[in-house]
Amino acid sequence: MQTKLVKVSEAKLETDPEQGKAIEKAGQILREGGLVAFPTETVYGLGGDALNKESSRKIYAAKGRPSDNPLIVHIAKLEALYPIVRELPEEALRLAEAFWPGPLTMILKKSALVPKETTGGLDTVAVRMPGDAVARAMIEAGGGYVAAPSANTSGKPSPTQAKYVAEDMDGKIDIILDGGAVCIGLESTIVDLTEEIPMILRPGYITKDMLEKVLGEVEVDQTILSADSGVKPKAPGMKYRHYAPKGELTIVSGAAEKVVEMINRLSGEQTKKGEKVGVIATEETRKQYHAPIIKCVGKRTDEDAIARSLYTILREFDDEDVTAIYSESFEGSEMGQAIMNRLLKAAGHHVIQAEEQIK
Ligand code: TXA
Ligand code: MG
Repeated sequence: MQTKLVKVSEAKLETDPEQGKAIEKAGQILREGGLVAFPTETVYGLGGDALNKESSRKIYAAKGRPSDNPLIVHIAKLEALYPIVRELPEEALRLAEAFWPGPLTMILKKSALVPKETTGGLDTVAVRMPGDAVARAMIEAGGGYVAAPSANTSGKPSPTQAKYVAEDMDGKIDIILDGGAVCIGLESTIVDLTEEIPMILRPGYITKDMLEKVLGEVEVDQTILSADSGVKPKAPGMKYRHYAPKGELTIVSGAAEKVVEMINRLSGEQTKKGEKVGVIATEETRKQYHAPIIKCVGKRTDEDAIARSLYTILREFDDEDVTAIYSESFEGSEMGQAIMNRLLKAAGHHVIQAEEQIK
């Protein structure tokens, strides 16, 4: 299959007839059961008709994704929510009012309209209305319901630019809509509304505080930041190693100067052993490292910037055949938690303390 790459832009959506044609074409491919990669405000998605089980099967095949890992159904208007859910709690409408279109996914009880192939066999469905206008126009043109995981090969970092989608999906899907670099850079927050108390299953741009302002009490799935606690995460996809670069990633945690010292020591040792070493630094520390490749993820105080560049940096290390990566650690209650959650998964939870003696 030949994969076409077509440029689209939110700004020209209304005025440029070529954009209209591209969206129409993408919609037709979706309606005929094909796959379209498209930009959203979080990461690029790999879309298929959510109500067509064959399309969902194709998505799993193109990504090499385990079929028990459910897909998010993307909609373009609120009315589209009603037919796909069995119950619509009042909380869902309040969240939609506050955060849709935007980077929030809600888990709700599904109706019979949604095939189990789309929900990985579950009775619940994940729903999101993306903030990107190109995405919404494409969803409308495609029939209103687009199942879309992130558009990467399963296990790799989610794509933040169309070229990374092409790296993973070229020859496997019909078309890639290239809307440039994404805005947020980490996947949507997932909140489960099927429990008594709403629960965050995946942290993202919409934080616990923001959700609590609308809902009152909100819980957090405790597996989000813990290593193998033996407890199964509630979002099936969160149990897999994810977002992983080809090189071995180690997170070094502790006081800033100790972290720099340890990363410099380790990177020296690994370079001597013949490894190609890369470091994920912050604006505050970048000049203190001696490794051959140093990438600055942003200012430590600007979590939005860090989120935006994390996956891009991991992909760049792949392009440069880096074999050993060291990263500083990130904390915090807002985006910091989402950043650390993705970084931990990318590292397979390999964290060392800077104070520790090296063996
Ligand atoms: O920002 C995003 O959400 C991006 C863009 C493309 O919209 N999509 C995305 O999809 O990140 P994906 O498939 O890479 O991640 C979906 C996550 C997985 O961890 C999956 O297990 C979880 O959502 N999920 C989906 N349906 C679920 C359900 N019914 N119950 C619990 N978790 C669910
Ligand atoms: Mg994903």
